[in-house]
Amino acid sequence: MNVVFRRMQKKDIRDVYEIELDLFDDCWSKASFLHEIKNSSYSFPFVLILNETIVGYCVCWFYQNELHIGNFAIKSDFQGKGLGKLLMEKIFELFPKYTEAYLEVDVSNNAAISLYLKFGFKILSTRKTYYENGEDALVMVKYN
Ligand SMILES: CC(C)(COP(=O)(O)OP(=O)(O)OC[C@H]1O[C@@H](n2cnc3c(N)ncnc32)[C@H](O)[C@@H]1OP(=O)(O)O)[C@@H](O)C(=O)NCCC(=O)NCCS
Repeated sequence: MNVVFRRMQKKDIRDVYEIELDLFDDCWSKASFLHEIKNSSYSFPFVLILNETIVGYCVCWFYQNELHIGNFAIKSDFQGKGLGKLLMEKIFELFPKYTEAYLEVDVSNNAAISLYLKFGFKILSTRKTYYENGEDALVMVKYN
């Protein structure tokens, strides 16, 4: 099994967007991913590649030691195989000096919430009707 974790590049956007469209109702546009790739001073988009196939990606913002995970996903047919855990481990390996890490997650997204709790995230607050489908978001935080 050949696993590569690297910065997202322009050539990855087509595959990343296909996964994004499949997984999210209010998905990011191709232009949003391109913006993150270009906005390199504090934006860190990554892809996880398994045997030359993009199977996951994340977009992290790191600013003055505050880490924010803005997007995080594993391709549907590769879920439940430990790749979400691996992607999260890679993020924290890259930003060992973070003081706090934030993310938002749909209140009904039990798989993601379970993963985040395993990595030490705690629920900080709820954002009412945060998502386009009217669902609330949990804001989660992990302190270093
Ligand atoms: C959430 C997501 C990233 C998890 O990735 P994954 O590769 O499937 O997760 P893993 O196989 O690494 O499992 C890690 C942990 O996640 C949780 N988990 C994963 N699938 C789960 C499920 N179907 N039900 C409940 N918990 C689940 C478990 O806590 C699991 O730990 P365990 O194996 O010790 O039980 C993935 O399901 C996904 O991309 N979902 C769609 C997009 C999404 O919701 N992104 C997050 C937006 S905030």
